[in-house]
Amino acid sequence: MNIKELKKLVSDMSLEEKALQLTQYPVYELDEKTEAVVTGLCDLGGIDREVLWRTGTILNAPNGETAQSIRKTRRGKGIADPFPFMLDVIHGYRTIYPVPLAMACTFNTALIEDCAELAATEASCDGVDVTFSPMVDLGRDARWGRVMEGAGEDPYWSGEVGKAMIRGYHRGGIACCVKHFAGYGAAEAGREYNTTDISERNLREYYLRAYRACLKEQPEMFMSSFNLLNGKPILGHKEIMLDLLRKEWGFNGVVISDFGAVEELYEHGYCETGRDCARVAIESGLDIEMGSSVYASYLPELVRTGVVSEERLDEAVLRVLELKNKLGMYENPDRFTDIQKRDEVTLSESGRALSRRAVEEGSVLLKNDGVLPLKESAKIALVGPFADEHEIIGNWAGKGRIEESVTVKEGVESLLQKNVPYERGCSWKLFETDESGFEEAEHICAQADMIVACVGEHMMNSGEAHSRADIRIPEIQRKFIMRLHELEKPLVLVVFGGRPLGLSEIEEFADAILYVWQPGTEGGNGIANLLYGKATPCGKTVMSFPRSSGQCPIYYNCFTTGRPKKQDMPSALSGEEWRTGYDDEYNSPLYPFGYGLSYTEFEYSDFKLSAAKMKRGEKIVASVKLKNVGKRDGYETAQWYIHDLFASIVRPVKELKGYEKIFLKAGEEKRVYFEITEEMLKFYTDGGKYAAETGAFELYVGGNSRDCLKTNFELVD
Ligand code: BGC
Repeated sequence: MNIKELKKLVSDMSLEEKALQLTQYPVYELDEKTEAVVTGLCDLGGIDREVLWRTGTILNAPNGETAQSIRKTRRGKGIADPFPFMLDVIHGYRTIYPVPLAMACTFNTALIEDCAELAATEASCDGVDVTFSPMVDLGRDARWGRVMEGAGEDPYWSGEVGKAMIRGYHRGGIACCVKHFAGYGAAEAGREYNTTDISERNLREYYLRAYRACLKEQPEMFMSSFNLLNGKPILGHKEIMLDLLRKEWGFNGVVISDFGAVEELYEHGYCETGRDCARVAIESGLDIEMGSSVYASYLPELVRTGVVSEERLDEAVLRVLELKNKLGMYENPDRFTDIQKRDEVTLSESGRALSRRAVEEGSVLLKNDGVLPLKESAKIALVGPFADEHEIIGNWAGKGRIEESVTVKEGVESLLQKNVPYERGCSWKLFETDESGFEEAEHICAQADMIVACVGEHMMNSGEAHSRADIRIPEIQRKFIMRLHELEKPLVLVVFGGRPLGLSEIEEFADAILYVWQPGTEGGNGIANLLYGKATPCGKTVMSFPRSSGQCPIYYNCFTTGRPKKQDMPSALSGEEWRTGYDDEYNSPLYPFGYGLSYTEFEYSDFKLSAAKMKRGEKIVASVKLKNVGKRDGYETAQWYIHDLFASIVRPVKELKGYEKIFLKAGEEKRVYFEITEEMLKFYTDGGKYAAETGAFELYVGGNSRDCLKTNFELVD
């Protein structure tokens, strides 16, 4: 259809029909067994279930067969309007790959793109047209449950990951939605759905950067977030929704609310009535209301009484129709739903292999005192609540099925082609106190050469609505680890988590720590390959690992203060007082951003710059020799950081500006190059101009954000 035809469709609609184009409910609400009148959580509006059949889009997708039958039923009711099913396909559809936070640790955008394509292919054949992904909220606070959905604490890297995901979804044939706009990641104290207070500079420089970067790949939709920003709910923020997103950034796609967020304008204490919620949201530039029905209940009347212009309504409806048109739904409302193809592509061997590779590249080896990789001949005991647990696919796992995932035990036994002694030891539950399983686990451990304990956080203790005030491994498991340690055998911890957990209490008792996040369907196989050296770890963490909950939020790209400590130590130990820090805690994280070990070792040397001075508009090239000095082949991610030493607005101590993931055979050496441009030195200067300031800069290169080589250069006029 061309734009003229689409506009004609809009003008032929009644006001009620227009409001329904802008209303989205979950598919289960169509079920005859649900209440006849459907509302949101706040009950501020309501529409008849029968009317729900006429909405312009539908949330969630049951499966290809039901999708087809719903489309048929609509036609039976005389509704010709095609509609997309929209679902959260976050890290896989049926073949689940590791959670986005783990994917980001691969530092491999090609792999991220391939995984997103796989997810999109499985999903589109099964009736899904749009995914609510990527989520590019900045994750600086490990207490916040939703850090698992994003790409960590670095704004540049979050944008790169978001872009790769969008390319992958598009290659797989579905549209996508960047979320949650904006600033949701800054929820105070990491408490879910909580208030955010972010200065304009902080927003632009850090929180908004990844959303903006995503625009380059032309996502079809944006989702507004739940949070208050500087005292105003996002849906009341014309400055964010209209002035910034639409006018300044030129985004012309569909903006959808988060679930129930339009009605929540009332709960926030911002709008007194459902009618006012509808008015505020439409005036702020929101197109589709998800999960409540104040648009359907009040928009027609708001237009009739002249409070809201019909033009504004038409503009929103037209965007929805343009999306359907882009998806090819006017030609074929059933689009790519293809049951036969679905059955071929779903959980295919190649898909599983891809997902397994993602586990191998996204897991992070945090510690290794020479015990890993394991020898196949070693007599191990496999213990811990996650050793034979299928619930490791992660939260937001699309249509992934728990029972289809591979446990660590299954992976190890299939690799070794024999059974291994196993005991669970204890449960993963947060408030569990039952220690009765310890003894049997200790018994099999006593007979083994070494212990592999699979511990950590259950997949449903991270994700939406799963923030934690104490980010340590649950107490029962800490006790269990202590008991294992007392056996005085080499102890390997395989740690599961949707966030960087606080590991400092147990770290010293482990001889090796492999952090596997929530690894998805192929978890057990990927982990077994890593444990036995069939794959060499290369993941680099994209969130700093706090030593304790009290350190949150903690991130590498922070500022110094006027009173930096001379040594990083709790002041009660060092005696260094009146300095930035804590009496009882270090300032540094346990493991810094970008950190991750390998089974081989890399050496950086001969760090050079093509010139020590860079003129505006020109470039200089840095390079460093990178050598694999160990005995195994492996990947290293060389990371380039810059620090602007003195500026009109103080700059972070380090900022990631580039990276390169390189494969080096044992003994091999390569020179790695990095081009510095004026563009990458820009920031919002005092006065708000986005520009680079002349002066001295530090350039760092290394295998993590802490252990780097350093040199200096100058930007001159
Ligand atoms: C979440 C969104 C999600 C939506 C639809 C909300 O609760 O915050 O991320 O896309 O539900 O499932």
